[in-house]
Amino acid sequence: MDVQNKIVLTGVKPTGTVHIGNYVGAIKPAIALGREVIANGGHYVMFIADYHAVNYLKNPEEMQLFTRKLACTYLACGLDPNQMIFYRQSDVPEVFEMTTLLTNFTPKGFMNKAHAYKAAVDKNIAKGEPADAGINMGLYNYPILMAADILTYGSDYVPVGKDQVQHVEITADIAGAVNACYGKQVLKIPQAITQENAALLPGTDGRKMSKSYNNVIPLFDDAEVIRKAVMSIKTDSQDINAPKNPEDILLFQIARGFCQPELVKEIEEGLRKGGMGYGTIKKMLADAITAELAPLYEKYVDYMAHYDKVEEMLREGAKKARALARPVLDNFRATVLNLK
Ligand code: ADP
Ligand code: TRP
Repeated sequence: MDVQNKIVLTGVKPTGTVHIGNYVGAIKPAIALGREVIANGGHYVMFIADYHAVNYLKNPEEMQLFTRKLACTYLACGLDPNQMIFYRQSDVPEVFEMTTLLTNFTPKGFMNKAHAYKAAVDKNIAKGEPADAGINMGLYNYPILMAADILTYGSDYVPVGKDQVQHVEITADIAGAVNACYGKQVLKIPQAITQENAALLPGTDGRKMSKSYNNVIPLFDDAEVIRKAVMSIKTDSQDINAPKNPEDILLFQIARGFCQPELVKEIEEGLRKGGMGYGTIKKMLADAITAELAPLYEKYVDYMAHYDKVEEMLREGAKKARALARPVLDNFRATVLNLK
């Protein structure tokens, strides 16, 4: 991907549990990509998608806490708010004006096919309930709000997990419909970026590490909590001295996803030869995780304790975001309404 002078944008929903799977699979790569984009003269736009969370998160205290945790997590992991544009979605009213305009160019059928809505309908039907039971328009319109996030800034690339690619494709289709309607490029057509070879980090039970499965190693917690989570990684009862194929061993898969190559090699060799016990490997893994994360955790705690400073950063970020958004929206409005 050529990021020279490009606008690269991504959003994250506030969530209460951030785990090392999110760290290796999303946070670290996002920050690395952000640095590359900036070094190449582009803009890296990263925001907390709090309005996207309202359709399922209606507890204001939780909303506030999750938003704070997420902001502090990204900052502690190295996001530089002076270089990147880092803000809270709800602080940029242009996005919501854009959403209203975009609804008029979005075939309703697109929304019927969007995966989150379809999954909710399928669940209802399986339970013998009416198709739309408990489904609000926030969930139904979710892809239009996401399209507004992307199109309001003239984004070129949108790094996302595979589950979000459909939403970026819908966004490109909506932008295409706008451009076709007025016979010129009003909105830039964005492209999704996925990490093709991104390995999913397994959780302590062997399934994908996920907050929904309760099998996570938390990103930011006391060393003892992290150690306990590592100790709970499932192992088998093979003899300690038996030579093993590392690929078959969950503990190795997790270590490979997190640790530096030298340590991965040491564990791999220990397993192949036999003689390296699971307890020893767990200790090595817990030490490696805490060694890498302890300094970041300290920063995280500090940001959380001085949240007013973070709030200020987000507000400054929203100003920069609005400056990028305004001309795109003004051009769209002027086209639709024939304003001079
Ligand atoms: P969860 O499965 O815990 O609900 P999310 O769906 O909120 O996680 O994921 C947020 C981001 O973290 C996504 O970009 C996703 O690709 C990444 N991610 C989540 N779980 C993992 C994992 N086990 N390994 C690697 N990346 C992950
Ligand atoms: N829907 C995304 C998710 O669930 C979050 C998101 C909202 C987003 N707006 C976006 C991602 C715009 C990329 C671009 O993960």
